[in-house]
Amino acid sequence: MTQVATHHRELIFSPAIRIFHWLRALAIVVLVVTGFYISWPFLVAPESSDVLVQGWIRFAHIVFGFVLTSVTLIRFYLFFFGKSSIERRSIKDVLSVKSWIVQIKSYIWMGHLDKAGVYGPLQFVTYVAISLVALFMCITGLVLYANVYHEGLGGLLWDVSAWFTAIMGGLAQVRIWHHILTWVFIVFVVIHVYMAVWSGIRFKHNAVDSIVSGYDYHKDH
Ligand code: HEM
Repeated sequence: MTQVATHHRELIFSPAIRIFHWLRALAIVVLVVTGFYISWPFLVAPESSDVLVQGWIRFAHIVFGFVLTSVTLIRFYLFFFGKSSIERRSIKDVLSVKSWIVQIKSYIWMGHLDKAGVYGPLQFVTYVAISLVALFMCITGLVLYANVYHEGLGGLLWDVSAWFTAIMGGLAQVRIWHHILTWVFIVFVVIHVYMAVWSGIRFKHNAVDSIVSGYDYHKDH
């Protein structure tokens, strides 16, 4: 007799969440690469300064900078006001000591997952932190932008940029923090991808494909 393994599927990520996830991933990769190039433009020798390599790279940085700024704002909105409460429910886990213990034990192969929302508490606070760093990158990026483009949006942002620059202790500090915090994204992406693959294998839930299809496929118990 053949036995048929039955699987369940559950929609966990809405199309909006998936689209914005991949837009953000693309924007971050482009911004890290172009950002480091802007700070160390190694491709053009001094005698050939006529070539617009730096200009095009800056252009890409700014375009994707605005992509990231838009996605960051929309994502904050969706977290609080989106139809599904699957992300918001994680706040309950963050506030529960028991939830933290269950999660951390499950990471060292002791017991199973048990959570109210789609993320574990440690995962959730990490995402909140990276979202706040992204917000800071957008603010410092826009301040740098306003210092180059004095018309249009740059002009509109001029007063608030001057105020922010004063708080940061000058434009050099704005630039330095925009540069240093780039490393947070590099470290985050490496750990994030590793954890996504690892937890799919470990828990047989929410594997990497769920952020593509939206579905969590898992075996019936
Ligand atoms: C993950 C997000 C981002 C990363 C990793 C990133 C990275 C960087 C880095 C490494 C630099 C070079 C800083 C230096 O001079 O040493 C830079 C410059 C800059 N970034 Fe970003 N950035 C991000 C987001 C943004 C955003 C959202 C904007 C907003 C439009 C923006 C606008 C700028 C501007 C205008 C400059 C200065 C360009 C110049 O001096 O010619 N960045 N960025």
